Amino acid sequence: MKTIVSIAEMQIFSERARIGRKTIGLVPTMGYLHKGHLSLIAKARRSCDVVITSIFVNPAQFAPNEDFARYPRDIEQDTRLCKSAGSTVLFVPTEGEMYPEGYSTYVSVDGLSTILEGKFRPTHFRGVTTVVAKLLSLTKPHKAFFGQKDAQQCVVIKKMVKDLNLGVAVVTAPIVRDKDGLAMSSRNIYLSAEQRSEALILHASLRRAEEVAEKGERSAPAIAAEVTGLIQTKPSAKIDYVAVVNAESLADVDSIERGVPVLVALAVRFGTTRLIDNVIINIR
Ligand code: PAJ
Repeated sequence: MKTIVSIAEMQIFSERARIGRKTIGLVPTMGYLHKGHLSLIAKARRSCDVVITSIFVNPAQFAPNEDFARYPRDIEQDTRLCKSAGSTVLFVPTEGEMYPEGYSTYVSVDGLSTILEGKFRPTHFRGVTTVVAKLLSLTKPHKAFFGQKDAQQCVVIKKMVKDLNLGVAVVTAPIVRDKDGLAMSSRNIYLSAEQRSEALILHASLRRAEEVAEKGERSAPAIAAEVTGLIQTKPSAKIDYVAVVNAESLADVDSIERGVPVLVALAVRFGTTRLIDNVIINIR
């Protein structure tokens, strides 16, 4: 595995890979890699000749009051994990090169960026789409891989790729969970033992949503209420939102229709740590 820091070198590498008719896969990350990230690298490896994993803690997607400064970083461990998962290139651009002084171009997807997560993090998706647009432009992948853990991010990026005719296939992969059900996240290390144990209610409540839907509950508000009620049994849990929406458009739904996938998505704070999780329910 080769580590590339310079943007110019990354561009030359990708250009050459394209000329050599290699299929390029991109896995964008902010590092502190865990099994969720590694599953994306492994998936990319199965269908691409060259896998570029990027690590860049993107300041543009953090609000001033968020955790940019303390976001966990461990480049040595990440390099090892990335290599063993099958990445060909580890791309670690610098902040100075990604956002040089005077940088002023942003990509934003209207509508989709201001609902759900966007209500609580109004500048977040503009930062995500800007950095992903830059990464796509400079690594020139045929496919880019994203985790379903960030369900809204997947929808927003697909829309950007479509609207801007970026000509890359956006591939999504299932949520990877710890054995106890907690969705893997670089931010899980912020949790105290007690908060972590209370956070298990997130997956449990989503499982309950699936269960009640399977048993015949079709009302979206009733399902949201079931999930909310369960989470509220944990004293340290503070709910930002629990939403039941169309899985493709993220539009609110009143009820679950057969064959139409709905996304049950939630964001909950435990102390200063904000966790998101979701499940897709598709009644057949
Ligand atoms: P990051 O949080 O590091 O996540 C990188 C990728 O890993 C995302 O596509 C995310 O959905 C996926 N991922 C995270 N946890 C996962 C899990 N438990 N199971 C499956 N996939 C998981 O998402 C970002 O970084 C950034 O917003 C980025 C797209 C890199 C832009 O800066």
